[in-house]
Amino acid sequence: MTEMAAPDESLGSFKLEDAHEQDAAQLAMILDLLAAKPAIQTLKAWAVEQLDPRPGETAADIGSGTGEDVADLAARVSPGGRAVGVEPSPGLRAEAARRVPGLDFVDGDALSLPFEDEAFNLIRCERVLQHLNEPSKAVAEMVRVLKPGGRIALIDTDWSTAILHPVDPEVYGRIVGIFFAEAANPYSGRTLRGLLAETGLTITGETAATWIEPQEGGREGFVAMLGQRAAAAGAITQTEADAFRTGITEAAGRGAFHLSVTMFAVSAIKGPAA
Ligand SMILES: C[S@@+](CC[C@H](N)C(=O)[O-])C[C@H]1O[C@@H](n2cnc3c(N)ncnc32)[C@H](O)[C@@H]1O
Repeated sequence: MTEMAAPDESLGSFKLEDAHEQDAAQLAMILDLLAAKPAIQTLKAWAVEQLDPRPGETAADIGSGTGEDVADLAARVSPGGRAVGVEPSPGLRAEAARRVPGLDFVDGDALSLPFEDEAFNLIRCERVLQHLNEPSKAVAEMVRVLKPGGRIALIDTDWSTAILHPVDPEVYGRIVGIFFAEAANPYSGRTLRGLLAETGLTITGETAATWIEPQEGGREGFVAMLGQRAAAAGAITQTEADAFRTGITEAAGRGAFHLSVTMFAVSAIKGPAA
């Protein structure tokens, strides 16, 4: 449930304004947990297929986290190509450099990419736009640095798809209301296609994958954390938070817990259809 409790938000922030105060080891652990989710693996593989990296090409991963996707791109554009990761978190950049030494990880903000126009054949950006207040500006930047005919793939979660059982729907509404209020762009997933189409790109594919949390997720405390956060914000009472936690934990013990959230991916090319 890491990402629902926003792995992103309640266990640590991935926001740019927090980049210099992050616990990078914790964020890396969260990203590792997420990368192991079948839905995320499915979408990562889909993006590679759509981007179709070829030897000699230039590639960028915007918001590259722990760097594994950059390593994958680097291998696919080799020989003769170049892959770079843009990552504003110093701690995550250091972790990426440790995990995949010799690759290019640069400091940068998706809203103002440190590259010349038309520098890349392909760009990927995964689960980053949900953390931005100006996602359309970031996509415009990505399109600026993409060569004519270049390929782009965006992946993101739409948090409105997060469903949980068992919980009183009215209480759940107040819990997720706090999450939505604090998140920068929680409905990002549904906007990906429009962001690319409205920037003048030709859409080449779209897909979705739903993450279904295993029963352990209901016992590990992530869901309880959501309740505690809502209680701390005054959206639910402590009694409601305790009942929420107990209900989920007991359901997981019976194998009756459900948590799912859907992520979307869209690919496009810069220019008319090939
Ligand atoms: C949920 S993580 C995803 C990391 C990686 N793309 C992956 O698939 O594992 C979000 C990433 O976006 C980065 N990020 C946040 N704000 C950003 C910004 N304005 N520009 C570029 N990256 C940003 C974070 O530092 C973090 O690495």
